[in-house]
Amino acid sequence: MIYLDNAATTFPKPPEVEQAVTEAFHTLGNAGRGAHAATLDASRIIYGTRERLAELFHAEDASRIAFTCNVTEALNIAIQGLFEPGDHVITSVCEHNSVLRPLYLMEQRGVKVTYLPADFKGRILYDELEHAYQSDTKAVVITHASNLTGNVTDLEHIAAFTEKHHLLLIVDAAQTAGVLPIDVQKQNIDVLCFTGHKGLLGPQGTGGIYVRKGVDIRPLLAGGTGVKSYSKAQPEEMPTALEAGTLNGHGIAGLYAALGYLQKMGIGMIYKREMALADRFYNGVKDISGVNIYGDFTTENRVAVVSLNIRDLDSGSVSDWLWEDYEIAVRAGAHCAPMMHETLGTKEQGAVRFSFSHFNTDEEVDAAVRAVREIAEEA
Ligand code: ALA
Repeated sequence: MIYLDNAATTFPKPPEVEQAVTEAFHTLGNAGRGAHAATLDASRIIYGTRERLAELFHAEDASRIAFTCNVTEALNIAIQGLFEPGDHVITSVCEHNSVLRPLYLMEQRGVKVTYLPADFKGRILYDELEHAYQSDTKAVVITHASNLTGNVTDLEHIAAFTEKHHLLLIVDAAQTAGVLPIDVQKQNIDVLCFTGHKGLLGPQGTGGIYVRKGVDIRPLLAGGTGVKSYSKAQPEEMPTALEAGTLNGHGIAGLYAALGYLQKMGIGMIYKREMALADRFYNGVKDISGVNIYGDFTTENRVAVVSLNIRDLDSGSVSDWLWEDYEIAVRAGAHCAPMMHETLGTKEQGAVRFSFSHFNTDEEVDAAVRAVREIAEEA
């Protein structure tokens, strides 16, 4: 198999991730639930992972990071826990359903939402920010990079706006954590939502949320935490406030190892390699007759995603063709990004998304280019 679906989940993972998960099955108890060796082992690995994440994102300290099982859970915690009826929130048409659906839910509860438009290349129209602002605007919720076009959001521009109007900045880093440098303090990010199984190279079922000191989120879940058991209320201190129930200790042990791998390799090197592969693919397919590519390729400010269509062929059929005849794994259809597809005019056709990891090779990319060319010629 040639796996080019890394924006959905990275594959393969570094070998040390699998090893760490396996070892955890032999050692871990339940973190924070006692003082015996097994529970302490779990607490140590979980705390160590918080520390590595805090270092990666330059959080004030490890306690500002709470674990979730994915970025969707993190975004739901933020979106459902920060807004009240009457609040106004700004987001964009580039968002994934993990942002859109919680916001639709909040709209039903009386929150007002403005969706910043984008142009035909999927570029957010930043000039619309000021028009969108209202006196009751509370936050901007924005993706750091589109999972469909690979365009990277100009967070500096957005942060200047949120700073100016004293708004919260909530960032969906699903496609960028572990890939692009993120410094929550320098970039004025109040809440950062991330997943463990994409750029962070960890197991599925891991993710988390960074919350700036001073930002209080109403917890989505209440339950056992191992502390303050006689209190009827969920503890208020981070990270416990947002972590009810047993954590995914085995997965987090894998994430710890993945973060160690990222430290060893350097995310800059990984990003450079992924982008070299994506560029090789883009340059190989861009002039093939009948191929339409989406996104802004006039800038280097991108992640390693190339989405395309071949004439009016259904994207699902092309993806099946790639899989059945070439064993190339990609993602087709709507990519849980309905407004982005509407903006690009691909609502009916969807798009065929190729997404790269530093584990891919030039030969795999060349095979994918050949496959696209053959399909375009044959269809
Ligand atoms: N959000 C993931 C994707 O873009 C699953 O494919």
